[in-house]
Amino acid sequence: MKCAVVVVAAGSGQRLAAGRPKALVELDNRPLVEWAVSAFLAVPAIEQHVVVAPVSDTNLVASLVGPAVVVVAGGADRQGSVANGLAALRADITHVLVHDAARPLVPVAVVEAVVAALTAGARAVIPVLPVTDTIKQIAEDGTVSGTLDRSRLRAVQTPQGFDRAVLVRAHEAVGHDAERTVTDDAALVEAMGIPVVTVDGSDLSMKITTAHDLQVAAALVEVHRHEAAWAGDRR
Ligand code: C5P
Repeated sequence: MKCAVVVVAAGSGQRLAAGRPKALVELDNRPLVEWAVSAFLAVPAIEQHVVVAPVSDTNLVASLVGPAVVVVAGGADRQGSVANGLAALRADITHVLVHDAARPLVPVAVVEAVVAALTAGARAVIPVLPVTDTIKQIAEDGTVSGTLDRSRLRAVQTPQGFDRAVLVRAHEAVGHDAERTVTDDAALVEAMGIPVVTVDGSDLSMKITTAHDLQVAAALVEVHRHEAAWAGDRR
């Protein structure tokens, strides 16, 4: 088995309104893309690192992440960016993790759990968290049409791990249907009828979308440091 990671970092970050692409926004004086890549550089099983950067900032991102990381330009949507990342994988790579740069504080332990599930034979793996809010489905007029059974719901994070051939096939199968927004690679694989295994995600791996999320993440940097130091001592 040979594992790679594709970190997608080519989004505009409009909802963050920081005046620059989200991946370049700083958290504790370090751009989000640099945070995100660092978790994967710390896992020896990950042999190739690919970052998908905004077209206008590929050189800047390359200088931030260093020469060991391949940087390619992003696509029009997330799915297009993942496809560009997959196209840059080395021929000998058998498994690939796909991670959103918008989750900068992903713990190394989550990356390791995804890799471990792939090693154990899973063809698709996603990190998940139990849902603490009750989730309701609403009708078009905003009234409630149903209440979902919370015990069976999970919030999905990244990195999601895949057998490379399966993910490439899934992307090819769905093509680029402008009508269909794909926010999650596992959904493409599910549609092919392939089982998707779940592993424990982490609260630290929260997704940064708004300025408020960035403030919450800033408050979590210390927790992240402590957990990393603690995990490092155990390794
Ligand atoms: O927009 P959202 O935050 O859901 O994007 C999830 C991830 O996909 C982000 O890390 C973003 O940088 C990435 N993305 C991308 N290319 C796009 C759109 C989003 O790499 N065209």
